[in-house]
Amino acid sequence: MTSFAHPYTRIVGTGHYLPKNVMTNEDVEKVCDTTSQWIIERTGIEQRHFCEEGESTADMAEAAARNAMESAGVEAGDIDLIIVGTSSADYGSPSVASMLQHRLGCNTICAFDVSAACTGFIYSLGVADSMIKAGTATTALVIGAERISQYLDWEERNTAVIFGDGAGAAVVKGSDEPGILSTHLHADGSKKDSLFLNNGKPVYEPAERANKVTMDGQDVFKNAVKRFSEVIDQCLTANNVAKEDIDWLVPHQANIRIIQAVQKKLAMKDDQVVVTVNKTANNSAATVPIALDIASRDGRVKPGQLVISAAFGAGLTWGALLLRF
Ligand SMILES: CC(C)(COP(=O)(O)OP(=O)(O)OC[C@H]1O[C@@H](n2cnc3c(N)ncnc32)[C@H](O)[C@@H]1OP(=O)(O)O)[C@@H](O)C(=O)NCCC(=O)NCCS
Repeated sequence: MTSFAHPYTRIVGTGHYLPKNVMTNEDVEKVCDTTSQWIIERTGIEQRHFCEEGESTADMAEAAARNAMESAGVEAGDIDLIIVGTSSADYGSPSVASMLQHRLGCNTICAFDVSAACTGFIYSLGVADSMIKAGTATTALVIGAERISQYLDWEERNTAVIFGDGAGAAVVKGSDEPGILSTHLHADGSKKDSLFLNNGKPVYEPAERANKVTMDGQDVFKNAVKRFSEVIDQCLTANNVAKEDIDWLVPHQANIRIIQAVQKKLAMKDDQVVVTVNKTANNSAATVPIALDIASRDGRVKPGQLVISAAFGAGLTWGALLLRF
């Protein structure tokens, strides 16, 4: 579709989906050498949602997308771009985005997945923002969707206890009014082994890493705090915005202790930080849109407020964005 460029991209609707099946820490104790108390103290997580057998990443992405489209008041025919951030696509190909194009009944529009692990939604939003500003699209569906449960090994207790399934979505549109003010995206492949998801046959990797996610928790923690701090500074400086001007922090939800470190850096109060990790655990690329949708639907994040979001994940990847909601 040919369209004309807009100076800004605005989020005009959000949505999310969490599978019905809830696994509490007490349930985890039954399958893993851990305790509920350890999980809460070290991560802040109380429960996570897991897909039923047969429920796919595309199923969750579709539910979140329909929810966001309803909140934005857009029809399938209005959408001219679909981007899905995911590390747990149902197939190598087709992409989840391509399946969504068909399921939602969109025209033969551009649709593709972005693989940037937990930073997948911020990467996807950054790409959509650039395409809309370039005039390649006018109305995009941007989604983070993950079915990480299929890659969890309960013998890997420091990794398995932190993840959950879910999907979040946003409809973004070209606008003459400020919306997304900037996005900042980074990667460092030298740290690929710190957090690793081998989602296929172990052709290049030791057999014990096949079809599971493995993590050096302490290394990831250290790098997450460092990179969050850097990229938030970069985002504030680029926009000439002081931390006092920010209304809300909507961070990636991996661990309450990482969120608290970012909160401290921004000197924000508890009631300015959206926290969902206790109820959802780490949904990888889906955490930011899920948190944004929950906080906008319950009236915390209001139109016109200044929101900063940052994420960090495997790759390693990290990124931040500042937006006028
Ligand atoms: C995974 C994580 C919670 C582990 O917490 P930690 O405080 O670093 O724990 P450590 O790995 O140092 O292990 C401390 C002890 O707890 C134990 N332990 C690890 N996982 C455990 C679990 N699920 N239950 C009980 N004990 C556990 C370890 O065996 C170790 O025992 P030891 O002292 O007897 O050797 C933490 O490192 C983390 O959150 N890292 C970042 C992970 C992340 O955010 N990943 C996603 C990024 S997108």
